Amino acid sequence: MKLRLLAIFLVALSFPLFVHSLVRHYKFRVVLKNSTKLCSTKSFVTVNGKFPGPTLYAREDDTVIVKVNNHVKYNITIHWHGIKQLQTGWSDGPAYVTQCPIQPGQSYVYNFTLTGQRGTLLWHAHITWLRATMHGAIVILPKRGIPYPFPKPDKEKIIILGEWWKSDVEAVVNEATNSGLPPNISDAHTINGHPGPVPSCTSHGYTLHVESGKTYLLRIINAALNDELFFKIAGHNLKVVEADASYVKPFEIETIFLSPGQTTNAILTANQGVGKYLIAVTPFMDAPTIGFDNMTSIATLRYKGTPPYPKTILTTIPPLNATPVTTSFTDSLRSLNSNSYPAKVPLTIDHSLFFAITVGINPCATCANGIKLASAINNLTFLLPTISLLQAHYYNIKGVFTDDFPAYPPIIFNYTGTQPDNLQTNNGTKLYRLNFNSTVQIVLQGTAMIAPENHPFHLHGYNFFVVGQGLGNFDPEKDPSRFNLVDPVERNTLSVPNGGWIAIRFRADNPGVWFLHCHLEVHTTWGLKMAFVVDNGRGPNESLLPPPKDLPKC
Ligand SMILES: *[C@@H]1O[C@H](CO)[C@@H](O)[C@H](O)[C@H]1NC(C)=O
Ligand SMILES: *[C@@H]1O[C@H](CO)[C@@H](O)[C@H](O)[C@H]1NC(C)=O
Ligand SMILES: *[C@@H]1O[C@H](CO)[C@@H](O)[C@H](O)[C@H]1NC(C)=O
Ligand SMILES: *[C@@H]1O[C@H](CO)[C@@H](O)[C@H](O)[C@H]1NC(C)=O
Ligand SMILES: *[C@@H]1O[C@H](CO)[C@@H](O)[C@H](O)[C@H]1NC(C)=O
Ligand SMILES: *[C@@H]1O[C@H](CO)[C@@H](O)[C@H](O)[C@H]1NC(C)=O
Ligand SMILES: *[C@@H]1O[C@H](CO)[C@@H](O)[C@H](O)[C@H]1NC(C)=O
Ligand SMILES: *[C@@H]1O[C@H](CO)[C@@H](O)[C@H](O)[C@H]1NC(C)=O
Ligand SMILES: *[C@@H]1O[C@H](CO)[C@@H](O)[C@H](O)[C@H]1NC(C)=O
Ligand SMILES: *[C@@H]1O[C@H](CO)[C@@H](O)[C@H](O)[C@H]1NC(C)=O
Repeated sequence: MKLRLLAIFLVALSFPLFVHSLVRHYKFRVVLKNSTKLCSTKSFVTVNGKFPGPTLYAREDDTVIVKVNNHVKYNITIHWHGIKQLQTGWSDGPAYVTQCPIQPGQSYVYNFTLTGQRGTLLWHAHITWLRATMHGAIVILPKRGIPYPFPKPDKEKIIILGEWWKSDVEAVVNEATNSGLPPNISDAHTINGHPGPVPSCTSHGYTLHVESGKTYLLRIINAALNDELFFKIAGHNLKVVEADASYVKPFEIETIFLSPGQTTNAILTANQGVGKYLIAVTPFMDAPTIGFDNMTSIATLRYKGTPPYPKTILTTIPPLNATPVTTSFTDSLRSLNSNSYPAKVPLTIDHSLFFAITVGINPCATCANGIKLASAINNLTFLLPTISLLQAHYYNIKGVFTDDFPAYPPIIFNYTGTQPDNLQTNNGTKLYRLNFNSTVQIVLQGTAMIAPENHPFHLHGYNFFVVGQGLGNFDPEKDPSRFNLVDPVERNTLSVPNGGWIAIRFRADNPGVWFLHCHLEVHTTWGLKMAFVVDNGRGPNESLLPPPKDLPKC
């Protein structure tokens, strides 16, 4: 009897001591949902009937297993945005890049381990425009027993920003593809699935409940399709502590700026008078456009003990073209770069690439005006193949892609000056090949062609360091001397400013095929994307794992 008690005691004691990582299982049922709170009677695609979808909670080093069952009429895939997927490219998710789609009635198990990351990320569909309503949060807690590098907030809240169309989003993108014209703009921005109290809508908006004196870790996600967004709370500054699941040097700011695909953790201290405060989400666009969803979405921060019918304390919102507000946010971001979380910036570069981002016009006999909009990197409009690039790479299937993606633009011009006369683009499925563990620098240069604007670029399979950014044309003589190689921010998505450039670096220590694309879905659709093929290194620990048995077929 005593021995048994002792054994139970030992087991109980050993649990927190020896069980460091867990396997966490999730079931994602892809189903249709109807919702009246969104001021529309359309049904839309969701995971588990939730909008936003379910949150994945895990700790660093855990393995996450998600079984996805497709019960809708659309092909689907899911991307775990920002998860590095070390050796598990088969679980990354972009359709025709790392897998064929999960077809109606089929299922697929995503299986990946969370290595060297902690913070907030998001998951979303990665095929056509389905991510508009298929997305959710990923929360990666630090390893058991490891504290945050900042005082532990009393509570945590997830805030997901989105973009809502009253019509069916697949109809919106198909209409645009057929006409060759820009797609219809969205009708509203959402905060945790609520558009806020807009006319002829039953939604009362989201309420963030707080208690005086307490601190809250806000895990904020921009899950919008095409719009960069500002986030602001009346009367409260926010202390930013993490971006894209990497810790940053904490800084206080009034307005948070997030591009689609970006995430950030910020601490809110409930230190104002009891009452109701406005939360505002507004879009950012600093280029002239024909049409733009300029709708403000609002929510409420409400202190416990607020009397009934209080007046909401309001705030000013940044103007649509508030470039300085975006710069003051991005310029404040620095890697924590502590002993525990060093910034391992590559100091020597094996591949120095220069990618010019353009929007062009190609002939199209079936389109409304005989032309269609296209987008390109180094004048190449990327075409997805009909089987996945990763399969073609792994099984060495010829004729799917070539590995001659251009490292430089074919024509050098004044990128931010007058546009060239010829606006046509080339197209193809070209990849850029990297040796295992080689180092890469990419200067992403915005251009003035047709529709100059911000382009939030997202790299799969890696985080990158943002070593430099600027306006105008990148100057290869002068600009590198100003690079920050000490504590640049480490992230997976960053905007190339309108009429400017960014320089990013990463070490290709993850074998596989990795997508790089503009995270404005409208531009991805137009071809603003490419992929790297990273060869295996030496031995099994530096090689892509074999494909899982249930990998969907094309
Ligand atoms: C959603 O509503 C539409 C129209 O009201 C209806 O035809 C459809 O069956 C509903 N779908 C679901 C999943 O409830
Ligand atoms: C997940 O992948 C690992 C190999 O990395 C494998 O051992 C395990 O069986 C897989 N689990 C499932 C549920 O597929
Ligand atoms: C796009 O907008 C136009 C003009 O408002 C409208 O006629 C069309 O039906 C819309 N398309 C979709 C797919 O909602
Ligand atoms: C928002 O855009 C619409 C056109 O889409 C325009 O009529 C309106 O003036 C704009 N509102 C603001 C505040 O810019
Ligand atoms: C490029 O064009 C811009 C805008 O017209 C101009 O200010 C700049 O001087 C040009 N640069 C070069 C190198 O010609
Ligand atoms: C892009 O390619 C097209 C077709 O080959 C060519 O006509 C055009 O001049 C190129 N444009 C640029 C900016 O490289
Ligand atoms: C790719 O380019 C070729 C040659 O210009 C053109 O005929 C074809 O339509 C283009 N394909 C796409 C999908 O744009
Ligand atoms: C990658 O390269 C760096 C720098 O050359 C080296 O320190 C490191 O050991 C290499 N890693 C592997 C896994 O080969
Ligand atoms: C893989 O294992 C070899 C031999 O143990 C080691 O030298 C190498 O650094 C490992 N690579 C990585 C990426 O851990
Ligand atoms: C779904 O994916 C399969 C495999 O790639 C493809 O053959 C089929 O046309 C796709 N269906 C739709 C509606 O896109």
